[in-house]
Amino acid sequence: MTTETPDMLVGWPPPVLDPAGPFAGPVAIVAWVLFIMGAIVLVVVLVALGVALFGTRKWKRRVGGERLVWIGGLAFPVVVLTGLLIYGLGVTAPVSDAPRDGEMRVRVTGEMWWWRVAYLDDQGRETVQDANEVHIPVGRPVVIELESADVIHSLWIPRLGGKTDMIPGRRNFMRLQADSPGVYAGQCAEYCGGPHALMGFVVVAHADGDFETWRAKQAAPAAPSALSGAAVFGASGCGACHTIRGTEANGLAGPDLTHVGSRQTLGAGILPNNQGTMAGWIADSQGIKPGNRMPSYPVLTGTELRDLAAYLDSLQ
Ligand code: CUA
Repeated sequence: MTTETPDMLVGWPPPVLDPAGPFAGPVAIVAWVLFIMGAIVLVVVLVALGVALFGTRKWKRRVGGERLVWIGGLAFPVVVLTGLLIYGLGVTAPVSDAPRDGEMRVRVTGEMWWWRVAYLDDQGRETVQDANEVHIPVGRPVVIELESADVIHSLWIPRLGGKTDMIPGRRNFMRLQADSPGVYAGQCAEYCGGPHALMGFVVVAHADGDFETWRAKQAAPAAPSALSGAAVFGASGCGACHTIRGTEANGLAGPDLTHVGSRQTLGAGILPNNQGTMAGWIADSQGIKPGNRMPSYPVLTGTELRDLAAYLDSLQ
């Protein structure tokens, strides 16, 4: 296996301080403000240390003493840290507010080690299911409802919004907005065991009309064309864990595969999605992403793998 990042994984690795929307902008500014304040404090501390170590008696008397402890050790940190806290909370509050009427909502549930995605209607009911990527229209805020099915995960798409934890039994909110169409990479940012580092994510921002086209296609049941692989899918018991709407497969443990062929990546953001990587993933998913909950299927023959990959790829 090559260790190079395949070219097809667009936007990876995601640049951290290159905001591409109005909710990522303030987060980047806060990061810079904190960095600059930290740098200033570092310089002040180093100067004080220099005076303490090498300063003349006169200099030590001038800057040292009890007054320095009160001002530099207590008053300064209290004022600066309180100020930074209030500033930071104010700037980032709009990112994590609860959804308002008319805002598009998507539920993303962290699972070990992938992302369950459901688009919600106005009443908050789940409609279209997807996995490991969220599609949004450009220029509009989209509220991501963050939940967890097991342990704490954290969703981070640095160019579009702030890093936000997914906590079992709790619902957090994160607003995303992309100013221009494109693919924006994300990553689980809270250690969640095993292949945490291989828990990637993708946001696809569509020009307005394209988004409606995508949503309509996604809402339709599966329309596979390469049917010889369907028999392999059934015989291998894939439907016990995966759903393909419009077929008998109705498992809920793993990602919904109704339109898996149209996804950007496989294995939660770690492989480009094509028939070759699909066959490899099914045959040796434990070698590619050790510890993940999809078993490897080394028993399948080359022909069976090719048929299965062609079938899944046809689920566009
Ligand atoms: Cu999920 Cu780290």
